[in-house]
Amino acid sequence: MTAETGTPAAEPAASAVQAPPAKGPLPRTGIGPARPRGRQDWSSWPSYDSAVLGFRNFWYPVAWASQVARAPLGVTVCGERVVLARGKDGRVRGLHDRCPHRGVPLSLGKQEFPGTVSCPYHGWTFDLEGGRLCAVITDGPDSPVCGKVTVRSYPVEERLGLVWVWIGDPDPAPIDQQLPEELTAGDPFTLGGRIDIRGGNWRFACENGYDEGHAKYLHRTSLWRTFKTMPTWNLTHIEKHGRWIYRVQDEVHWEADFPGLGTWTNYRWWKKKPPKETFNIGNTGKAKRIDPVIAKHAFPGFASLSLPGVLRIVYPTFIHYEFYVPVNTDSHRYVGAMVNFGTGWRVAEFIAKYLGGIRWLFHGQFSGQDKWMVDVTDAPPERLYRPDVSLTTWRKLCVDSGALPQPLDVVDQKA
Ligand code: FES
Ligand code: FE
Repeated sequence: MTAETGTPAAEPAASAVQAPPAKGPLPRTGIGPARPRGRQDWSSWPSYDSAVLGFRNFWYPVAWASQVARAPLGVTVCGERVVLARGKDGRVRGLHDRCPHRGVPLSLGKQEFPGTVSCPYHGWTFDLEGGRLCAVITDGPDSPVCGKVTVRSYPVEERLGLVWVWIGDPDPAPIDQQLPEELTAGDPFTLGGRIDIRGGNWRFACENGYDEGHAKYLHRTSLWRTFKTMPTWNLTHIEKHGRWIYRVQDEVHWEADFPGLGTWTNYRWWKKKPPKETFNIGNTGKAKRIDPVIAKHAFPGFASLSLPGVLRIVYPTFIHYEFYVPVNTDSHRYVGAMVNFGTGWRVAEFIAKYLGGIRWLFHGQFSGQDKWMVDVTDAPPERLYRPDVSLTTWRKLCVDSGALPQPLDVVDQKA
């Protein structure tokens, strides 16, 4: 999206005199190229560097369950094209979205017969369960090609009101092992959310979500934070607990004096006064009431991240999740979800708040600021700073997990 496709840098003229490689530190002034500062690449995290299309052997949310009906729906996930449709039993099935006859997307077709999908071109018809070619409409009932062709099928699950597709080896891991544990523990909850296709590689989105530094500055102008002061800067460390890494706030500073420049604060007279104590639930202050389900989990920090790109932001009365689903090399699917564990009248209260404000203010305008930054991020090279320990710890987590990068050539696979 943001990749520039201008003319390549000019090659040096053949007759140009090449200077010998510099030894020792380069002078700070003078003629000649300066030694590049900062990180020039992500070779410190090789598998992460290769995971342009994400990691294999994970479940990825791709659509709301309500969006998938009998009519085929095409999605791209980790570079793989998948067609989704509900079978005879109402369950969602997934097949490779490419007709083996001449390569037309099956998602452009329809269910001529329940439990099948027919390609729109010549009517090759595939069983949604298993992908076997079970009829060829334009070749009669005795078409000899029937039963000899199969399109790849994908494991599909429905959880949290979302359709999840397994990208990886044929035998999927249980999906509950991958979902946030507080959502599989049996406590009832209500969920509201948004799904967008956004520009930028999924890793930029993931790093943005977990980035310690940006929220206080980038989001200070968001409507969602109109009446709440954002900190100026924090001192943070990262803790790993199980499969999650947590940002833990050691110090929260609401203003700072920058020598020779002046004081900077996000506090304004109309905003809630910042608290004196350091806190680790939410990012604008201590809460009077913490939901008992949230309190029960005793999250060590309010922002946590796990593979394959699941962000969890814990607030006193709700939890916000972001799932960053690779689409192609330069776009991702943003799945934002907010969960409230209230029961009884609190369900109606949450739905009203979500539809009346949160959806537009938080999942819309606030998150739109992230969307903007993710789309224009261009790294490496990069010169990291102290808060970026959040980014480097995430990259290390990916490497240490042994997760397998999705091969880049999967985009061109025709099988
Ligand atoms: Fe699909 Fe011909 S391309 S039936
Ligand atoms: Fe943000």
